[in-house]
Amino acid sequence: MISSPLVVAPMAGGTSTPALVIAAAQAGAIGFLASGYKTPAAMAAEIQQVRSAVKNTGQNFGVNVFVPGEPVVETEQLKAYRERLLKDAALLGAGVPELSPGLLNDTDFWSEKVQLLIDDPVPLVSFTFGLPEAGLVRSLHAAGSLVWATVTSPAEATAAAGLGVDALVVQHNSAGGHSAAFLPAPVAHQQSADVIELMTQLRAAGVARPLIAAGGIGTANRLREVLAAGAIAAQLGTAFVRSIESGARQLHKDALADQRFNVTAITRAFTGKNARALVNRFVSEHPDAPTAYPTVHHLTAPLRAKAAADDDADSLNLWAGTSWRTAQAGPAANIIRALLEAN
Ligand SMILES: Cc1cc2nc3c(=O)[nH]c(=O)nc-3n(C[C@H](O)[C@H](O)[C@H](O)COP(=O)(O)O)c2cc1C
Repeated sequence: MISSPLVVAPMAGGTSTPALVIAAAQAGAIGFLASGYKTPAAMAAEIQQVRSAVKNTGQNFGVNVFVPGEPVVETEQLKAYRERLLKDAALLGAGVPELSPGLLNDTDFWSEKVQLLIDDPVPLVSFTFGLPEAGLVRSLHAAGSLVWATVTSPAEATAAAGLGVDALVVQHNSAGGHSAAFLPAPVAHQQSADVIELMTQLRAAGVARPLIAAGGIGTANRLREVLAAGAIAAQLGTAFVRSIESGARQLHKDALADQRFNVTAITRAFTGKNARALVNRFVSEHPDAPTAYPTVHHLTAPLRAKAAADDDADSLNLWAGTSWRTAQAGPAANIIRALLEAN
């Protein structure tokens, strides 16, 4: 069913690279390409790069796709947030795009990307931000791929299991980067303390699919614990952001090791979707950003680019899970070896 208990997470925005996926396979882990924000042509080129290199390793690799939500509605809250961003942008010397239809209704080339995966299959396809239709799951199976869906609650897991996907990536909200959630979050007293408790909740709800644990896993010990709790594998993101093969900006890599940053939080400030990041000035100053993804992502893009060019870590989206302090620099192979050592 699975060729390794360790999955190097797909990380869109430049962090996942073909080199990281190949390094993962060569070191005995499963790597994922992140198709989010990429053109179909760029996605196809990365698949070509990875396919032959991974084949000889005996490992699988995957491609991750963002499931688009409903078009964003241009609310007063969104317009007001754009006005506030204009002030940030003016201070930084960057612009903010207009709220054009293209920014409100961006599906990230969904149809083209899934067609490409049907026409030119890869071993694993994972989805986040929503669920694929059952017909698409059947088409991907017919093409020879295994299909994973990312879920964050028992309700989402039940819905995903009903589609016949092969495994569920169970993402706890300790995870770095965007939350995969696509249904309203459970009420406070039903939320889980960590990914093991979340897996227990899924089992209690009758979900019988294989589970891949994600969120806050940063050490070999923790990996062992989630495997002992019944996960077939763990998917780690933050642990690889500082690796040599990661394409994350140096500013992001350095911030993860900077003692000045001492806490993470869930924020919508950068993209309009909940994501866990190191708390910096931008996160602190925008506690009430609207739920409007990916429109806010596009609105803040020039601002983030300028922040990166200016080495301004206080205005950048520093995605990080709660275990960020254990993230190591160096070759991905070393990080993988240390994680797998005792497992
Ligand atoms: C920089 C970054 C980018 C991410 N991008 C994606 C993505 O494109 N697709 C996805 O399914 N998950 C993405 N994630 C979430 C990971 O798949 C995974 O759930 C998470 O990293 C696990 O928690 P951890 O960061 O504590 O290890 C991203 C995470 C990070 C840190």
